Amino acid sequence: MPGRIHYTKPSITDREIGYAADAAAHGWGERCYEYIGRFERLFREHLGTRHAIATSSCTGAMHMGLAGLGVGPGDEVILADINWIASAAPATYLGATPVLVDVLPDTWCIDPERAEAAIGPRTKAIIAVHLYGNLCDMDALLDIGRRRGIPVIEDAAEAIGSQWRGRRAGSLGAFGTFSFHGTKTVTTGEGGMFVTSDDALHERVLTLSNHGRSAAQTRQFWPDTVGFKYKMSNVEAAIGCGQLERVEDLIAAKRRILVAYRERLAGLPVRMNPEPAGTVNGAWMPTVVVDEGVGFDRDRLLADFKAAEIDGRVFFWPLSGLSVPARVGPGGTPVAAAIHRRAVNLPSYHDLDDAGIDRVCDVLERHLGACRDRSRTIAA
Ligand SMILES: Cc1ncc(COP(=O)(O)O)c(C=O)c1O
Repeated sequence: MPGRIHYTKPSITDREIGYAADAAAHGWGERCYEYIGRFERLFREHLGTRHAIATSSCTGAMHMGLAGLGVGPGDEVILADINWIASAAPATYLGATPVLVDVLPDTWCIDPERAEAAIGPRTKAIIAVHLYGNLCDMDALLDIGRRRGIPVIEDAAEAIGSQWRGRRAGSLGAFGTFSFHGTKTVTTGEGGMFVTSDDALHERVLTLSNHGRSAAQTRQFWPDTVGFKYKMSNVEAAIGCGQLERVEDLIAAKRRILVAYRERLAGLPVRMNPEPAGTVNGAWMPTVVVDEGVGFDRDRLLADFKAAEIDGRVFFWPLSGLSVPARVGPGGTPVAAAIHRRAVNLPSYHDLDDAGIDRVCDVLERHLGACRDRSRTIAA
């Protein structure tokens, strides 16, 4: 048996191990922030933003960013219905209500028209989540934000390596957030990043990130406000430094896998992560959405994957069907409801080789062939 194919796992080399060991052995006392500062600098340089604050998670980065924008009880924050709960949860921590809108059928990301239709007097932000590395239509969203005076935020947790007209995902909105969870393209085990080029917002979030102590404090242990504690450790940042020194290779490895799947699955009744002109897809998670009209059974495919020792992953559930304290925007979310049943994420760890990709595609091909045969029998 050739062994199990995991859906993701990090790419860790002697470089990351060496930095982590150095941080564990020496990164204390006056050196306790050394790798954190270096990680933030490398990330700023990679992204092209003026500021970056390393955090313990993307969830924490989003929580602080929304607080920095002044989101509070009774406010509303608009985002797509198809998302991991972590994109919606921070608004609820602040007493705000997520307003869920439909997605576009080709990118599976927020539909800008639906987002604009959902704007009301309490709307404080639109969160553009770049799902699986696919990009939201940032031109349309930023235009809405400018016209309506509403900040557009980017949750770029899944979009390291994605670019919109030459600018990196996460660097276009009022602020951006990233995740370095062990499944992500760049990992620190757990971890996140808050980025912005807005000096005033950065100052507010920096103060919030330090239990409310401003960088300019003159008295020790003097909080000006109640803040948060979502800091990254020096050891995690050391791993992150090793990863960022290899970031272009890590992105290229993920993109190679998406291209290989796309070539191998051409001709089958599926769509994969799009890459419209003027964009680069960071290819965090190659995903197939099976065409309407094919009698596809997602759970049966996942069972077939499991039997072949291949990890498969369900597409995110629409948040409107979960117990999230949210409301649905005008027009409902019919596209989101239809897509998630017809989609699965495919394995894509950096070192997945062609033989592994073939194994995954063989199961998918067999499954779709059986679906086609079943559909024909039913039609006859
Ligand atoms: C789009 C998106 N946003 C937010 C998060 C939360 O990231 P973290 O686990 O670092 O808090 C994730 C992680 O899975 C994610 O995929």
